[in-house]
Amino acid sequence: MGESGMNTSGAADESRGIDSPDALGAREFGTASFGAGSETLAAAAATVSSAPSIPSIALADGNAIPQVGLGVLRVDDSQTASVVESALAAGYRHIDGAAGYGNEAGIGRALAATGFNHGTLRESVWVTTKLRDSQQGYDNALKAFDRQLALLQLDYVDMYMIHWPTPFDWRSGETWRAFDELRAAGRVRTLGVCNFLPEHLERLYKETGQWPAVDQIELHPTWQQREVTAFCAEHDIAVEAYSPMARGADLEAGDGTIERIAAAHRVSPAQVILRWHIENGTIIIPKSVHADRQRENLDLFGFALSTEEHRQIDALDGPTRAGHDPRTFSYS
Ligand SMILES: NC(=O)c1ccc[n+]([C@@H]2O[C@H](COP(=O)([O-])OP(=O)(O)OC[C@H]3O[C@@H](n4cnc5c(N)ncnc54)[C@H](OP(=O)(O)O)[C@@H]3O)[C@@H](O)[C@H]2O)c1
Repeated sequence: MGESGMNTSGAADESRGIDSPDALGAREFGTASFGAGSETLAAAAATVSSAPSIPSIALADGNAIPQVGLGVLRVDDSQTASVVESALAAGYRHIDGAAGYGNEAGIGRALAATGFNHGTLRESVWVTTKLRDSQQGYDNALKAFDRQLALLQLDYVDMYMIHWPTPFDWRSGETWRAFDELRAAGRVRTLGVCNFLPEHLERLYKETGQWPAVDQIELHPTWQQREVTAFCAEHDIAVEAYSPMARGADLEAGDGTIERIAAAHRVSPAQVILRWHIENGTIIIPKSVHADRQRENLDLFGFALSTEEHRQIDALDGPTRAGHDPRTFSYS
């Protein structure tokens, strides 16, 4: 992030807002065991006991979010439960879902099958979901949330987000009123937004007097959105990177820059990009349906990038958005 908070020492523990894994204590996200007893889950539990601790990011509302989560966009509902179960087995304690992905039921089945939907296991996992754009507005949002929570088979979610600002059909102020009530009722812990540019964050603040705790935005080496991250830093809004590898396109970015750095550290290009995010203090939600890649994407804490390597990755910034423009897009 350069001016907006890069940790030039290369040590994640020193990045703004990051708790060191050693300091996590009771909030250690990587060591809980499973509640169900199938062979798969027993094997999973064995893996979990050796899973790495994941740092957390302290949010302005007092909550702490695991810095690495699993994204589940474009995972068919029928496949989602097994994808989420393998992520939990690998040590993920943060799942990033959305009504629009059509697979909240699959997430719910995975959490129920593994015992992560109640008791202390429930407290050890962070579950995010998002409101469909078409369901924005006070009444609609309250109704939609009831349906989403039922699909997830949960009593509360850790974070509920407005998915897109839709400035051409702006209802985020009204929607936020419903979100605020859900939080007051203990059904949501943290309120967030996605794809909000500074102009949308300011508009929301003017109408509600509140900043969201998290802004989830497209962010990767070739689309660094420095204006947005600087604005978020100024207002104590944590930045969460979606498409953190540009859906895979950035693995070969910069004529082999990422690959050369990876070879120097004997890690994969994906790990270089994800480690760069971690050292910048950004929350990441890489998606993979493959258990080996899920483990790889969590195995980010055994090496550190140098200041020069950060400089090289920072220099890859360009106009190469992988997704959509929040000023015009709606994902209803
Ligand atoms: N709020 C929003 O508007 C919004 C928009 C987009 C995304 N998101 C969230 O962000 C999450 C992540 O973004 P994304 O899915 O767009 O992109 P991404 O995480 O940057 O990339 C995912 C792609 O990279 C592949 N991959 C994963 N790990 C890999 C590795 N270690 N080596 C090589 N390839 C690897 C995956 O393939 P396999 O699955 O085959 O391994 C998949 O094709 C989404 O799932 C979703 O939760 C939010």
